[in-house]
Amino acid sequence: MSVLNPDLARIIVNQEEIQSRVRVIAEQISADYSGVNNLYVVAILKGAFIFAADLTRHLTVPHTIDFMALSSYGKSTALSGEVRLLMDLREPITHRHVLIVEDIVDSGQTLEYLLKTLGGRLPKSLKTCALVRKEKEVITLPVDYLGFEIPDVWVVGYGLDYAEIHRTLPYIAELKKEVYT
Ligand code: IMP
Ligand code: MG
Repeated sequence: MSVLNPDLARIIVNQEEIQSRVRVIAEQISADYSGVNNLYVVAILKGAFIFAADLTRHLTVPHTIDFMALSSYGKSTALSGEVRLLMDLREPITHRHVLIVEDIVDSGQTLEYLLKTLGGRLPKSLKTCALVRKEKEVITLPVDYLGFEIPDVWVVGYGLDYAEIHRTLPYIAELKKEVYT
């Protein structure tokens, strides 16, 4: 066992758990979209890049991958519903089957923004996939394909960061409260 980085409190989802769950989700998606000739996978930067890379490599249906970059204005304005679009898709999605791939659902405002924005472009279908969702008293938003429910704490790893640090850890770990408060 290697020593955990001192910023981290504990591992919440380990590497093996992530990898086997990603495989199962990819099988579900492949089954649900069987017969679809080109699933349009939209990965949300930066956080979803690792999850999307692993997930799409297990898909057995034909697919195209594209990226969108978003930024929320930060925790202090989390209730304002303001999400900034930093980089849009390369192609129109009208009449296409679209699957949004996100790293994490916290308040749900990012996913809500995406559903509204991409839904307005009249895709043939629009579904959501997220690796983790934080457990809240009230369910924030339904997700079509969900990896794990996790406690409502700040997590890093497998694409998730704190101030751009810890993104490339192979597991999802809880950040110590003293690091971010
Ligand atoms: P939302 O509150 O559901 O809109 O979450 C928006 C974004 O905040 C996510 O896509 C992540 O980029 C980021 N985020 C929320 N919670 C965490 C966390 O615990 N660790 C790292 N990033 C997070
Ligand atoms: Mg994100």
